[in-house]
Amino acid sequence: MGLFKKYVSQTRKPEGILGKLMVDGMNGGHAKLADWGMSHLHGITPKTIAELGCGGRNAAELMKRCPQAKLTALDYSSVSVEKARAFNAAMIEAGRCTVVRGNVASLPFENASFDLATAFETVYFWPGIETCFAEVYRTLKPGGVFLICNESDGTDKTGLKFEKIIDGMKCHTAEGLDAALRAAGFGFVRIYRHPDKPWLTVVGRKTADS
Ligand SMILES: C[S@@+](CC[C@H](N)C(=O)[O-])C[C@H]1O[C@@H](n2cnc3c(N)ncnc32)[C@H](O)[C@@H]1O
Repeated sequence: MGLFKKYVSQTRKPEGILGKLMVDGMNGGHAKLADWGMSHLHGITPKTIAELGCGGRNAAELMKRCPQAKLTALDYSSVSVEKARAFNAAMIEAGRCTVVRGNVASLPFENASFDLATAFETVYFWPGIETCFAEVYRTLKPGGVFLICNESDGTDKTGLKFEKIIDGMKCHTAEGLDAALRAAGFGFVRIYRHPDKPWLTVVGRKTADS
């Protein structure tokens, strides 16, 4: 495998020294995108948050924006878990943050645990998004919100280029995410598109009747 492919493939599951470099890079490089995504969290004051597919920086930002909340971050990469723990050491010490290793395909959480779940730049890699979204749905409380934020809208050249390079990557369209969320049980779905970039935020809500 060429070095470029080896490096960009670290986005899928960071490992070793290249993975550590990649997580540091993503923590800085995804900040603007993630903040834009979080700006769509209108009128909710979550007490419990799950940050799925974590590098650490977005967990810290969510805790800043939601000072009443306790946050659990999850990733299946030991490098991402380690980095997220280091990034949030003070919040872990203060009892507001936990970082666990696990797979979104089978979340190690009780039913109805969270008011908010977030997924920044990660659903591209989730194995069978309907199954994973059903797991998120299961672990959300009634009324709970699932926020997905991607820099690819599934049609842009850059996203599709990386989809060809990184094994197992899938750049989803807004319509594809909408359909998968509804199939997983979410009764309300809203799509937000960035005016100038192919950025996408998709919000699903677990409605009382869904
Ligand atoms: C591109 S990185 C994004 C990290 C961070 N959310 C950000 O925006 O900078 C994708 C992360 O999702 C994690 N991930 C991918 N598939 C996963 C799965 N099935 N279960 C748990 N974590 C997963 C990867 O290990 C990686 O840390």
